Amino acid sequence: MQASLIKEAAEIKDQLVDWRRDFHRHPELGLQLNRTAGVVASELKHLGLIVRTRVAETGVVGLLKGGQPGPVIMLRFDMDALPIMEDTGASYASVNPGVMHACGHDGHTAIGLGVARLLCRHQKELPGVIKFIFQPGEEGFAGAQRMIEEGVLENPAPIRSLAMHLWNTHPVGWIGLTPGPAMAGAEKIEIVIQGKGGHAAAPDLAVDPVVAAAQVIAALQTVVSRNVDPIEAAVVSISEVKAGDVFNVIPPNARLKGTIRTFKPKVRELVIRRVEEIASNVARAMGCKADVECLQISLPLVNDIAVTKRLHHLVLENLPELTIDDSCRVMGSEDMADFMHKVPGCYIFVGSNNPTRGLDSPHHSPKFDFDENALPLGAGLMAAAAWEELEAG
Ligand code: NI
Repeated sequence: MQASLIKEAAEIKDQLVDWRRDFHRHPELGLQLNRTAGVVASELKHLGLIVRTRVAETGVVGLLKGGQPGPVIMLRFDMDALPIMEDTGASYASVNPGVMHACGHDGHTAIGLGVARLLCRHQKELPGVIKFIFQPGEEGFAGAQRMIEEGVLENPAPIRSLAMHLWNTHPVGWIGLTPGPAMAGAEKIEIVIQGKGGHAAAPDLAVDPVVAAAQVIAALQTVVSRNVDPIEAAVVSISEVKAGDVFNVIPPNARLKGTIRTFKPKVRELVIRRVEEIASNVARAMGCKADVECLQISLPLVNDIAVTKRLHHLVLENLPELTIDDSCRVMGSEDMADFMHKVPGCYIFVGSNNPTRGLDSPHHSPKFDFDENALPLGAGLMAAAAWEELEAG
């Protein structure tokens, strides 16, 4: 069946492209994906799935019950766009100014519908239940967490999960299947450095938080270079600095914001501890006081070893022309990690660029676009992977 699903996916390419271009033309933000969710829900109902709407505002859940007994496997597809002004010049460019599908989630939504269509054709032989989760708010709106809170992992509870992302740093034909950690966990750092305001011409009478902030930023660069094991991966970035509003006044405080990215709990704890120690003690040495807050934004995304191994084998068997990369890791984060923390599974990177056609701009760029040949490949792979997981029991 797996080989047949891959072949059938190639035959519905035109439909996949039509869906994708329709979503691309009409991008929506955050949890407010009314039009997109409407199209998805109506397609799933048309196919005969049991559909639940308005989960986490505009999330859609579709249940496909097979004719044969078997487990429940969840497939998750994210649907939201970004607040970016599109500059691709494509015939299917966004008609909503300032909103753009610049991450490829239009492609994911189309692939999700394609997988539903392919698996429905074989509903009688389908050995189990597929739970389709179409998620809003992946781009920083905690959509996955909201859907979990609203019960999508119950009634019925899936035993394994699958998701994919079109990946524009690699060409169509490249597949990233990494066992273990594949995407980093993220924290948001906020540091408030309290000094004492005064006249810029009389620094001796003030306690300058701007100078302290500069020392803190410089000292934080040593966390990764001097504290973290060089074999491990970590990032500390201070990306927002705010202090003062006028040239001749020393402000009373300075505010820094940034992010920490790590894969492993031990590294994460070390980095958070060092950020707190350095910020408070360097500020203290400058006569200031620092309040440090680290807020967890997302967990690291960790692929289940057994599921990843099965998918690796599936690709070798049925798509031998593809190149498998089993060491692809990125410091970006992804809220599929929230689902996978509760339901083990695999997150697949599907190469989507085509440099000779100029389709290789990075994700979140106003010029982002991908090679639509990745759509049938993604749909075939996800449908076959779902079947494989049902058979694995
Ligand atoms: Ni994305």
